[in-house]
Amino acid sequence: MAKYQETPMENHEADGIKEFDNNLPRWWLYGFYFTIIFGIAYLVQYHFMGSGNVMKDEYAQEMKEAEVKYKLAAANTSNTARKLVLLTDPTNIAEGKKLFTGANLCYTCHREDGGGLVGPNLTDDYWIHGSSLDSIVASIEHGYPDKGMLPYGNNTKLSDKEVLQIASFVASMHGTNPPNPKPIDPAVEKKEEWKVQ
Ligand code: HEC
Repeated sequence: MAKYQETPMENHEADGIKEFDNNLPRWWLYGFYFTIIFGIAYLVQYHFMGSGNVMKDEYAQEMKEAEVKYKLAAANTSNTARKLVLLTDPTNIAEGKKLFTGANLCYTCHREDGGGLVGPNLTDDYWIHGSSLDSIVASIEHGYPDKGMLPYGNNTKLSDKEVLQIASFVASMHGTNPPNPKPIDPAVEKKEEWKVQ
């Protein structure tokens, strides 16, 4: 009891309840000082020096990554700056075939012979997104994520060269009439005159 009597009292009272004016515990006080120092260091590093990644920077960085990864269809199809040239030599076609039929890439949905399974038949004259080389390359690059086909372009999964090799292999399968192809869906597939050569 003696200890408490020596302790000064706070100068207020409510309904007969009084309060001791105890010192704050050491551990609490040091914790408090630590948060002040930490706060100042954080402020200096993140806001004044700008070397830390504040939320705004993280957001900007993620947006940049997403832009590269999911470059929009429009940006790709209207990309007239580059001139795509179909590859026809056996080496590049063979490379394209290797990619198309390897590592769970295209064949899982379009079949090894391009006849179509989950994805449409790639060997006939009926196309959803266009049969020009540009369109085929664009299809591979931006994919159709809402239909299950991922984007492969912009060096996320495949280099530009690999995309062109695959597109050229796809083009080389045109008119091969594989057995039991996926039926044409007239609601979305339109007959196109084949111009790629
Ligand atoms: C998970 C399944 C899946 C995989 C893997 C896949 N695709 Fe597709 N692909 C589809 C579907 C589904 C469509 C139809 C999209 C639509 O309906 O708009 C499609 C559409 C296409 C088209 C456009 C066809 C058209 O009629 O216009 C091309 C070209 C194509 N894919 C090529 C490829 C290539 C090349 C690969 C490998 C790099 C590949 N796909 C991998 C499912 C897949």
